[in-house]
Amino acid sequence: MEMVRLDPPAELTMPIGKAMFSQRATRRLDSNRPVTDGQLEIILNAASKAPNGGNVQPARYLVIRNRDAINEFGKLYFEAWWAKRRDAYGWTSKADIPEGSQYHLAALLADEMINAPVVVLVYSEPSGVAAASTFPGVQNLLLSARALGLGSVLTTLHAEVMERVNRMFGVPEEMVFHCCIPIGYPRGKFGPTSRLPTSATTSWESWGNPPPWK
Ligand SMILES: Cc1cc2nc3c(=O)[nH]c(=O)nc-3n(C[C@H](O)[C@H](O)[C@H](O)COP(=O)(O)O)c2cc1C
Repeated sequence: MEMVRLDPPAELTMPIGKAMFSQRATRRLDSNRPVTDGQLEIILNAASKAPNGGNVQPARYLVIRNRDAINEFGKLYFEAWWAKRRDAYGWTSKADIPEGSQYHLAALLADEMINAPVVVLVYSEPSGVAAASTFPGVQNLLLSARALGLGSVLTTLHAEVMERVNRMFGVPEEMVFHCCIPIGYPRGKFGPTSRLPTSATTSWESWGNPPPWK
């Protein structure tokens, strides 16, 4: 297959630091504000530029914009999200989620998926380094969406719905599913996000030795 070299898109002017430090999980998207083909082309081109093993480029993206399809998909996402929590914790409704749990936010996404203007399903061609060669592109996708003022969130599905999702969009059986990313203008705000301090997650020269910053 022919390879292409692309110039950086003129629309991606946000400093990389601002994009990285304000990108966050955006679960409430504006169903009335469309995302353009041009924006999606930029985002997918940015994803294509990511590192991947041997430049084999196994990642494949399925973009869904049809309203009825997203409604149908949203119902399957809802089913998948709750199937995952049922398997992991025995939860079957929001009342079962402990107070203060992050899962309240994730449960919100299960309700909100139907409002996404775009859903991107990320797959890879079957190959040994599939996930490791796919997620760098996913990160480029999330950051470039942020730089265009678009919100997104990385999420997964559950085996219970996978066959139906693949059938719905004609995805060949051998494709390996990785994640699902709704994209649209946010109904909330971007960043800041909270993370562990890197002084707690980084070792310097030998394991357990702290880095020179606090
Ligand atoms: C592998 C993976 C799975 C995730 N699954 C979900 C999910 O099912 N539902 C959801 O709302 N967010 C999901 N997220 C988003 C995370 O909850 C989010 O990145 C994390 O809480 C940090 O949020 P923040 O960037 O807004 O601070 C997932 C993220 C990753 C990387």
